[in-house]
Amino acid sequence: MTEYVFLDGEYIESDKATIPVRTHAFLYGTGVFEGIRAYYNPDEDQMYIFRMKEHYERLLRSSKVMWMRSPHTLDEYCKITVDLLRKNEYRQNAYIRPTLYKSSIKVGPALYDNKDSFLLFSTPLNEYYTEDKGLNVCVSNWRRNSDNAIPPSVKVTGAYANASLIKTDAHYAGFDDAIVLNEAGQVSEGSAMNLCFVQNGKLITTNTTDDILVGVTRNTVLELAKYLGIETVERAVDRSEVYVFDEVFCCGTGAQIMPIIAVDHRVIGCGGTGPITKQIQNLYYDVVKGKVKEFKHWCTPVYDR
Ligand SMILES: Cc1ncc(COP(=O)(O)O)c(C=O)c1O
Repeated sequence: MTEYVFLDGEYIESDKATIPVRTHAFLYGTGVFEGIRAYYNPDEDQMYIFRMKEHYERLLRSSKVMWMRSPHTLDEYCKITVDLLRKNEYRQNAYIRPTLYKSSIKVGPALYDNKDSFLLFSTPLNEYYTEDKGLNVCVSNWRRNSDNAIPPSVKVTGAYANASLIKTDAHYAGFDDAIVLNEAGQVSEGSAMNLCFVQNGKLITTNTTDDILVGVTRNTVLELAKYLGIETVERAVDRSEVYVFDEVFCCGTGAQIMPIIAVDHRVIGCGGTGPITKQIQNLYYDVVKGKVKEFKHWCTPVYDR
């Protein structure tokens, strides 16, 4: 089946979509992007795009910091995305990657006098992690880029060299992933996901000011916890606290809700999926498929039914 992408105002076949080798974003990492998921609900024969609007709102915030003039409005981005998924005729879970990028052919890092282009592609995707029992992670000896270097709240392509080093060094050290500290030595997040902790029945997550990407899934987890009657706390977290929390899990569009069962070889809680993690995980997988009426407004249907 032909797979389409949307590039510079046109839907074109994926293998015909190319960009010039001297494109600024390729040379300097000057793109901002999002990762969005769409879930197939077989009972309704429907695809639901999860929290699309919130992702494009973040894309627009990122673009502002990076001196971009967005070629489309929020509503146009949402429409283009629904249309692309329709054209690709998915009936399976999919991943959607919009990128706004500096597309001038020029050498030198400046963001001014530099054209802005938009690329959108989608691909079938189920699980990001193959480990179904939970993750065995370390605390990385790399630090997260600070807000005064490359702001982590801006989802800029160049910043992902930091995530790549964290993830790859964790892999070669025998771990599934890593927890990252910020320059102040506090816990920030995972390589490409946010972190949540459970202590005495309360759900804790790091502050938005602790050098994190403020995740859409993080917000979803906070909302779901409130819905389930679980108290939530946003606060700074020390490394040593992580070893002794009752439950630890990571959350993100790719990772979804994934338990962390060991940190630096210290077993977390029961060494499996803790009860609050399980409750949130179960609810999350129903919510993303449009099965929970209280959260259906987060799910954009792709097909007319
Ligand atoms: C660095 C980083 N932190 C957190 C997240 C989680 O964000 P979201 O839940 O919006 O996908 C991601 C994934 O996109 C990420 O790359």
